[in-house]
Amino acid sequence: MPTFEEAEEAEESEESEEAEERAFAVPEPLVSHGPARVVSMCNQKGGVGKTTTTINLGAALAEYGRRVLIVDFDPQGAASAGLGINAHELESTIYDHLVAAHPDVRTVIHPTTVPDLDIVPANIDLSAAEVQLVNEVAREQALKRVLRPVLDDYDVVLVDCQPSLGLLTVNALTASHGVIIPLETEFFALRGVALLVETVERVKDRLNASLTIDGILATMVDTRTLHSREVLERLEEAFGELLLDTRIRRTVKFPDASVASEPITSYAPSHPGAKAYRRLAREVIARGDVA
Ligand SMILES: Nc1ncnc2c1ncn2[C@@H]1O[C@H](COP(=O)(O)OP(=O)(O)OP(=O)(O)O)[C@@H](O)[C@H]1O
Ligand SMILES: [Mg+2]
Repeated sequence: MPTFEEAEEAEESEESEEAEERAFAVPEPLVSHGPARVVSMCNQKGGVGKTTTTINLGAALAEYGRRVLIVDFDPQGAASAGLGINAHELESTIYDHLVAAHPDVRTVIHPTTVPDLDIVPANIDLSAAEVQLVNEVAREQALKRVLRPVLDDYDVVLVDCQPSLGLLTVNALTASHGVIIPLETEFFALRGVALLVETVERVKDRLNASLTIDGILATMVDTRTLHSREVLERLEEAFGELLLDTRIRRTVKFPDASVASEPITSYAPSHPGAKAYRRLAREVIARGDVA
């Protein structure tokens, strides 16, 4: 008898995998690099796939020759751990530079096992930043100031936000050109999105006029259930063009890859989950959200 996972993979490959792979052209290599477009993964709801998307979209863009920097901006440090960095043992992380008089982020950029994919790690220290920044001048611009010197070194910077709309997330939005909102494809997915959109609008009005929502990403889709298909229809109605065409299916390969501290694109390169994130990378390039 096939395992649940084998059955799941067989089912996914039945659907026209070839058509999936043709969707969105394989991008041309870049002739020159930078300056980076900064994109935040945001949703104050926990466990919707922000970190998984940051890691795997980042790895897929790097496979297409883009120079990618991931900024772990969550005190839980999940993006760092997912890329094999034991951030709890580090003496210096993003936190030290956010609150420094003379930040030098280059000293906390770590390479990963994926070529062209670097990361600025975070650990629990970052939870103190929210309180410390409150009394600072230009407290919302701290991350923007930290990242500015390295933007020319990368094509894209992906910021993995924590599940909150507090000052750290406002810092991420102020430093960003775009926002991707991952949504778990379940009944209550839309709950809280209005508040998130309102926060984006407020940051746009007051702090960062060029901020745009690049797209809404449906994650943990289970097309075998009527429920999931109904939710997808509601998301299409609610967001129209803003809903990204690529859908990320629910599969245990994602938690498996995190346990292995690797992106799915290298842990299981031919798995439908890896292909989905490559497709997402091609889609964001085709939409012009990333060079
Ligand atoms: N498409 C998917 N299918 C199955 N499991 C997934 C999928 N995407 C993410 N997961 C798993 O769900 C959990 C939550 O995902 P993730 O950490 O990416 O969410 P998050 O939004 O970053 O969470 P948090 O708000 O806590 O930072 C993780 O265990 C992850 O491995
Ligand atoms: Mg996360």
